Amino acid sequence: MKITLPALAGALICGAAALGGANVFAAPTPTLQPIAPGQKTGAPCVTKFAPLAYFNEKCARCHGQYGSFYGDDFGKGQSDAQLHQSVDEMASGPAQAPLSAHDVDVLTAWHRALRDGKPFVAVVSAAPDGDGFQLQGEISPGATLEINGENIEVKDAKWTARVGAGALKLRARKGEATTEVEASAAAFGP
Ligand code: HEC
Repeated sequence: MKITLPALAGALICGAAALGGANVFAAPTPTLQPIAPGQKTGAPCVTKFAPLAYFNEKCARCHGQYGSFYGDDFGKGQSDAQLHQSVDEMASGPAQAPLSAHDVDVLTAWHRALRDGKPFVAVVSAAPDGDGFQLQGEISPGATLEINGENIEVKDAKWTARVGAGALKLRARKGEATTEVEASAAAFGP
């Protein structure tokens, strides 16, 4: 599996995988990082930050739940860097809730997904559970999720799933648009 780091997320240790060499995740960049950097188990990559929950709490009074006031033209013509800057400035300015560089990257990834009309999906926590993990995650409202080909129940843009320690393929689908994320122990190296 080939791991590519998201352009805006240099600090991330594992990122979206590029399937078949094409950088299909360039737009929504699912931002994922290890549960504990350097650990050698099969822990999935997680953000440790729940961008949608944060947005609904800190940004929605002006921009609507899940950005519902942004409008259909949101972000059109804006570069990733411009979005990143807006998110960073909004967090420390009007929202009065400054974010770490990593968390700005994660929240920006969701904004990029909005701009590009793609579903966003992230693993936000992973607790060891027997020989696997109990995952919690977020996903764009209205999107469906498969992990390794199995349908995962989504409720209020959140999901939970128990997974084994091996490779994971998350596929979010909304209408015709699909976002795929791969995460596995391979991302952590030996
Ligand atoms: C007090 C109201 C308020 C809050 C809270 C707020 N914003 Fe904004 N936001 C605005 C206004 C007004 C604009 C448009 C003017 C501007 O760009 O400064 C804007 C613009 C933006 C834009 C650019 C929109 C576009 O169409 O180009 C983004 C992205 C954005 N905000 C994200 C956020 C995020 C993320 C948060 C939470 C961290 C947030 N905002 C919190 C009022 C707010």
